[in-house]
Amino acid sequence: MPARVRPYQPADRAAVLRIAADTAFFGEPVERFMEDRRLQADFFIAYYLDHEPQCAWVAVANDEVVGYLTGSTGARATERGKTATALKAAAGLVGFRYRVGPLTRRYALRAARAVLAGEYPKIDEHRFPAELHINLTADARGLGLGRALLEACLNQMTALAVPGIHLSTTSRNVAALRLYEKLGFEVLGRKRSTLWEPWLPGEEIDNLVLGKSLPAN
Ligand SMILES: CC(C)(COP(=O)(O)OP(=O)(O)OC[C@H]1O[C@@H](n2cnc3c(N)ncnc32)[C@H](O)[C@@H]1OP(=O)(O)O)[C@@H](O)C(=O)NCCC(=O)NCCS
Repeated sequence: MPARVRPYQPADRAAVLRIAADTAFFGEPVERFMEDRRLQADFFIAYYLDHEPQCAWVAVANDEVVGYLTGSTGARATERGKTATALKAAAGLVGFRYRVGPLTRRYALRAARAVLAGEYPKIDEHRFPAELHINLTADARGLGLGRALLEACLNQMTALAVPGIHLSTTSRNVAALRLYEKLGFEVLGRKRSTLWEPWLPGEEIDNLVLGKSLPAN
């Protein structure tokens, strides 16, 4: 499949949101734990596309978007933008804009419990302020596109003089971990996760945060 990586454009939005939903559950569709794709899009992806679209990249094959990377420099405005996005989505929840069923309720309760129990490792935001998220459609994996998307992001963050970048993943994302380690990311923190127990009974899963320092220009 002839493919390439280029900067994100607003016309890519629907494709990026579709891929995000199709890959949300360890590379499989979000419907495993959430009834309404729009809720995932508005809570977890909208910030990056609305507030930092210049830090997003897409992989394109045969004129179709087959993968994306969303990024954030972690600059001061990030927290404000994320809060605004979350409040907008919360208002949508209160206004019954989303279909919320038993899956979403179970996910939300377990996610809240996981946060309160401290299951997400913390990072040093001064050393690793930038962040990234990456996903490819199933057909586009293993072709070097993940590496190409990451390299585009790392080069951009280096050019912007960002000191370091981090990402969150789990011990279950084996291909992703190999890719990150090959590109020089190191594990900064690791904590046992209980979030997915009802979906993956008997599996031991850790939340991981990885980081990479970027060279000074
Ligand atoms: C993780 C993901 C982004 C990797 O992108 P990719 O295009 O498939 O990976 P690449 O082809 O660029 O491979 C890069 C390196 O990762 C390693 N790798 C890729 N797929 C692998 C697999 N299935 N198992 C083990 N290692 C793998 C290879 O060693 C490769 O190294 P090389 O370039 O020296 O050969 C992609 O597979 C994906 O979207 N997976 C599902 C969703 C996901 O897990 N997202 C990440 C969430 S944190």
